[in-house]
Formats: sequence, structure tokens, C-alpha cells
Amino acid sequence: MPKIILTGDRPTGKLHIGHYVGSLRPRVQLQNSGEFDKILIMIADAQALTDNADHPEKVRQNIIEVALDYLSVGLDPKKSTIFIQSQISELTELSFYYMNLVTVSRVQRNPTVKAEIQMRNFEASIPVGFFTYPISQASDITAFKATDVPVGEDQKPMLEQNIILPKNDACLRLPGTDGKAKMSKSLGNCIYLSDPENEIKAKVMSMFTDPNHLKITDPGSLEGNTVFTYLDAFCTDEDFAKYLPDYKNLDELKAHYQRGGLGDMKVKKFLNAILQAELEPIRNRRKEYESNIDFVYNILKEGCEKAREIASQTLKEVKAAMKLDYFDNEEFLKELHTRFK
Ligand code: TRP
Repeated sequence: MPKIILTGDRPTGKLHIGHYVGSLRPRVQLQNSGEFDKILIMIADAQALTDNADHPEKVRQNIIEVALDYLSVGLDPKKSTIFIQSQISELTELSFYYMNLVTVSRVQRNPTVKAEIQMRNFEASIPVGFFTYPISQASDITAFKATDVPVGEDQKPMLEQNIILPKNDACLRLPGTDGKAKMSKSLGNCIYLSDPENEIKAKVMSMFTDPNHLKITDPGSLEGNTVFTYLDAFCTDEDFAKYLPDYKNLDELKAHYQRGGLGDMKVKKFLNAILQAELEPIRNRRKEYESNIDFVYNILKEGCEKAREIASQTLKEVKAAMKLDYFDNEEFLKELHTRFK
């Protein structure tokens, strides 16, 4: 069986470093592992519309932001097909047929749908399209016969069978810079992949740590300490050699912090150095692509054509299985001849 990756993101804003450690960085590693026969990366604009129908221009604008984020982290259009969900009408068609295979109560029990309904205060006014998006997501995955779906942890209930999650706990769900569980644009607690250097620095310096760690000599706690969670997600032993040679590794740094005698500022400066080194090449590549925007446009256009070819083949198979293939072969006509002899 060929190994096929399908994954995607809703284009409702620029992508941030939570997306990066949770799903973009692993995607690039999987892409470059050479282990996959096909890799498809989808900008899920149709799904984004399920809770943004009042703001179609927001979704439209963010198509290119997400595409630029993809390319700048190292997704390579020669190895990965990047495409836009709405342009593959076969996906919508598949969803309509799949809706017959799922009960309302099954969708209602989906923990992600439940949480999102609460988060958006939808309650009784849930758009039907939003409610059914897990079904549409099943269409996305099966249309391309994906065997592996690298996504963030929030997508787990959507993907019972073929999910790939990061191995490192800190990468599963990177908290916001304020220590809140989720990075979200509306909370203003995100570091974006496209943030300029000074903004990254300002965000790191104002990050939530241990509120009881007032004096440097106080023992510090790691529990819920965002700076250390970010270090868990980003730092390697080489970073110590480069930027903080007094310590060999993160365990040593953590031990010192817990003992007391290590100030937040020193740890934040270290984190800042690591983040800057990781994000600078991404930002530079983004600028290159921004100055070649026609090239990006064509990557998307060609990606859509390629994706459509694959999805239309699957739709044909599904329609045949559901007995909806009246004109694809002579069978239907033969049935008519037998019945109306
Ligand atoms: N729900 C995903 C998100 O919010 C986007 C998405 C749509 C997706 N269809 C998918 C992810 C299929 C993986 C597979 O980011």
C-alpha cells in the first residue's frame, strides 16, 4: 500500500510557532524523510468558512499567508502538493454521501466539535456546515487515500486511525506566551512565524513564568512555566554549547532554577536566542517568496489541478460503490434491458 500524507490548516490567520512545533516541523521532516509516496498539504478554506461565513474576505486573504508560511518552513512544492480545499469540488460531493454513514449523535459526541461549539458560543445557533466538518474532514483524508495525517493534538478526535502526533509532549500543545492553554489570535498570546526579530524578543521577555519566583535566589517552579515549556519544545544540547555553555543540557538548567539562584531574565535570553535562530531563516525565505508572488500563485494553481485528479478518481469509486455510476459502463443499460424486455 502506498504511503500517503494528507494534512491541512484553516486559513483564518498567519501560522504561529504552536502550529510549527505541533504540525509544520514534523511535516517537513516527514517530507524530507523520503518515506512517502505522496504528500498533500491542503489549505482548508471550505472548512474555515464553516465558522466564518460572515467573513469570506478574511479566508480569501489568508490563503496566501498560509501558503507563504508553508513554503517558508520548508515544504517543497517539488515534493509536496499544496492545494486549496474549495477548488476540489469532489471533496464536497464526497461529504454529502458520507453524511449518510454517520449519525447526528456521533458527531455531537466528538470532543473537538463539543469544545469548539462552546468556545464560539454557538450553542443553539451552530451552522450545519460547522457541525458536519468532521465528516468533510473524513472526505479530505479518504479522497487522497491518506495513510498518515500529521496534525496537532486538538485534531485527535477527528482522526481515530491515521494520526501522527509529535513525540515531545511540549510540542503537542504549546501554550500561549501568557501561559494560557492555547495560542490564539484573539488573546494576543502568539508568536507568529513571520514576526520580526524585535517582536519575538518583546514577546519572549514578557512571557509568563513562575509568579512566585520574585527574587533570583528564590526557588523557581517549572509547573506551568511557559519559558521552560518552550525550551522543552525548542532547545537542544547544541543550543547550550552555543548560547549558554555554563550548562550542559536542559536538565541542568531546570535543576538550577528549581534550587534557586537562576533569574528569569537569563532563561528568557536563552530562549530568545534559540527562537531567533530558528525563525530567522523562515522569515527570510518568506520574504523571498513574497517577492515572487506569481510563483506562489502558480504553485497553488498547479497543486489544485493535481489534487483534483486524485480526488476525482476516488469519487468515481465511491459513486460506483453507492450504485451511482449510471453512465460509466453498460451495466445500468443492461439492467434496464432486462427489466423492460
Ligand atoms: N481541521 C484542521 C485544522 O483546523 C484542518 C483540516 C481540514 C485537516 N481537513 C483536514 C487536517 C484533513 C488534517 C486532515 O487545522
